[in-house]
Amino acid sequence: MSEKDQMEVNEAQIAVHWQEEDYYYPSEEFKAQANVNDKSIYDRFSLDNFPECFNEYADLLTWDEKWHTTLDTSDAPLWKWYVGGKLNVSYNCIDRHLAKNKNKTAIHFVPDSEDEPIQHITYQELYTRVNEVAAVFRDFCGLKAGDRATIHLPMTAELPITMLALARLGVIHSVVFGGFSPSACADRAEDSKSRVLITIDGYYRGGKWIDHKANADEAYEISKKEGHTIEKVLVWQRHPEKYSSSSPLVDGRDYSMNEVLKGYKRVKVDPVSMPAEAPLFLMYTSGTTGKPKGCQHSTGGYLAYAAGTSKYIQDIHPEDVYWCMADIGWITGHSYIVYGPLSICASSVVYEGVPNYPDAGRCWRIAEELDINIFHTAPTVIRALRKIGPDEPAKYNYNFKHMTTVGEPIEPAVWKWYHEVIGKGKAVIVDTWWQTETGGFLCTTLPGISPMKPGSAGPGAPGIHPIVLDEDGNEIMPGEGKAGNICIKNPWPGGFQTVYGNRERYIDAYYGQYCKDRNSKDWRDWPYLAGDAAVVAADGYFRILGRIDDVINVSGHRLGTKEIESAAMNCEEVAEAAVVPVAHEIKGKEPDLYISLKPGIEATDELAAKISLRVCDDIGKIARPRKVWLVPDMPKTRSGKIMRRVLGAISNKGDVGNIMTLANPEIVAEIKKMVEGE
Ligand code: WTA
Repeated sequence: MSEKDQMEVNEAQIAVHWQEEDYYYPSEEFKAQANVNDKSIYDRFSLDNFPECFNEYADLLTWDEKWHTTLDTSDAPLWKWYVGGKLNVSYNCIDRHLAKNKNKTAIHFVPDSEDEPIQHITYQELYTRVNEVAAVFRDFCGLKAGDRATIHLPMTAELPITMLALARLGVIHSVVFGGFSPSACADRAEDSKSRVLITIDGYYRGGKWIDHKANADEAYEISKKEGHTIEKVLVWQRHPEKYSSSSPLVDGRDYSMNEVLKGYKRVKVDPVSMPAEAPLFLMYTSGTTGKPKGCQHSTGGYLAYAAGTSKYIQDIHPEDVYWCMADIGWITGHSYIVYGPLSICASSVVYEGVPNYPDAGRCWRIAEELDINIFHTAPTVIRALRKIGPDEPAKYNYNFKHMTTVGEPIEPAVWKWYHEVIGKGKAVIVDTWWQTETGGFLCTTLPGISPMKPGSAGPGAPGIHPIVLDEDGNEIMPGEGKAGNICIKNPWPGGFQTVYGNRERYIDAYYGQYCKDRNSKDWRDWPYLAGDAAVVAADGYFRILGRIDDVINVSGHRLGTKEIESAAMNCEEVAEAAVVPVAHEIKGKEPDLYISLKPGIEATDELAAKISLRVCDDIGKIARPRKVWLVPDMPKTRSGKIMRRVLGAISNKGDVGNIMTLANPEIVAEIKKMVEGE
């Protein structure tokens, strides 16, 4: 049996062994107030009405010029939505709300420390600040529509303000997760050829001051070595009145944003009217091969999809207070902290800190104080909260009507705890399955009309038509109990446009497997391959089983195994590296790193620590291996491929299966002994 066959059998077995869960229903009270409480929405968004059905989402926005073509497939599979239309994202997220809602809070910024007051930034204040920052980008940095800028900021209000200011000018932003290393930041700045890097002196997390500015210095140097020069580094000050980093500002390159802004008080910048298909941002994501892919998202299609799904699936109303506890450095934060909620004039919470600081009650105190009623987080956080403070939520008087889970499959037991304890048995849950590439939700229930099923992401979102295919492209029917590759039959406005600067990679990775005619201009010939394994139940609900490729999902964040392995290989002592995911109670998966050393190098604890550090330095702490195993050799096929499946089974204390086809079967027992002895 080939490695691939073996994997498929395993996935299928998982599916068969899983029991169907009971339905949970939304309350009458919830249904009555929901933005969608009529099942006819699925007819409106049926394939018969495609693509015009998606005009309903575009109509939620304010356009400078209306589109003439809803979907242009002439350059398939690089789809163009709302062609002919023009709009500005910052105008849609701010200016258009001023007439009626200027005094409404746009962003509640909750600092890490409970001693520091929460900032309630109104739409009017956001307008003023975004204009001033846009003026700095335009007049001080010379940025204009189509240029790229890299942002390496943590969760402070300055992050959405910076994004919106760039969007006001039509400058394409690329946000790098604040916890990522200088080299990750440099790679992204280099790939996007960003002339400007925006960072901050430091920030707080879990009670600690994190000095952040030095990361920019290093990123600058690394990027320079890669042949790309960052011209200006703009540094926000966490405490506006003083510069707080121990790394000084470099003359002629680094500028304190807060100082520069003093010269742009009350300056207004006209929003630049952008074509719907102009790129709004890049978001880099890990794939199977080494280099992260810059997913390029559009202006009109992306914003329409973020707005529509925020209204219909997040069910946000004008009076709601909405808290998505993701990081804006990931796609969830882009779509469902910043662009979706602000485009429909919501009040959105930006929290600097961590869920368990100073104690397990922190989230619930924030929820109580701000009277949050819509809550959005990931299974990894739910598991952690369940572990550290299972009874905490009951001590606080907050009321969620709606809760979201996103990022990885949620175990039914964890779902039920989320529902009963955090949701106090009342809140509806939407389990939203989607990806960086997809801009917004793909599978989810509609909170006001669909029953929920723990562990299942539900049917396709309105206008999204998923299908499960086997390796040969045959459809696996609902209720068959067999796992396959989940695909989306049709394009949708939120889908990314391409991999930045790499059209071939976009086509190969997402359409290569199932497109039968690469010259076709008919979207029906281009099913989108998500790269996840899934089973579809008889009721049409999809259960996602995880990645079919070798990406490791740690705490809801995707890490490429190749990226981790190549970081380890940067240690000169390392001969081979193989990373496998290990199940972890809280994080979902953790990377276990197997290393074989070059001949003559001694395996020591110091060396293992050095390799681990190297991975953290190159990628970020999030990639820290659970354990670095220095093994005498890797289990390999006869053609020399490392058998990650075998290593994975050892790490997860599972059955290694048939190993007799290996070139060196004897090594398996040796590695097993080593890992089990630990
Ligand atoms: C996984 C995050 C099960 C999936 C929005 C997907 C999920 C990858 C779910 C994308 C969910 C995300 N249930 N699995 N509700 N949501 N995933 O790009 O494997 O960071 O392909 O986007 O996370 O991760 P990404």
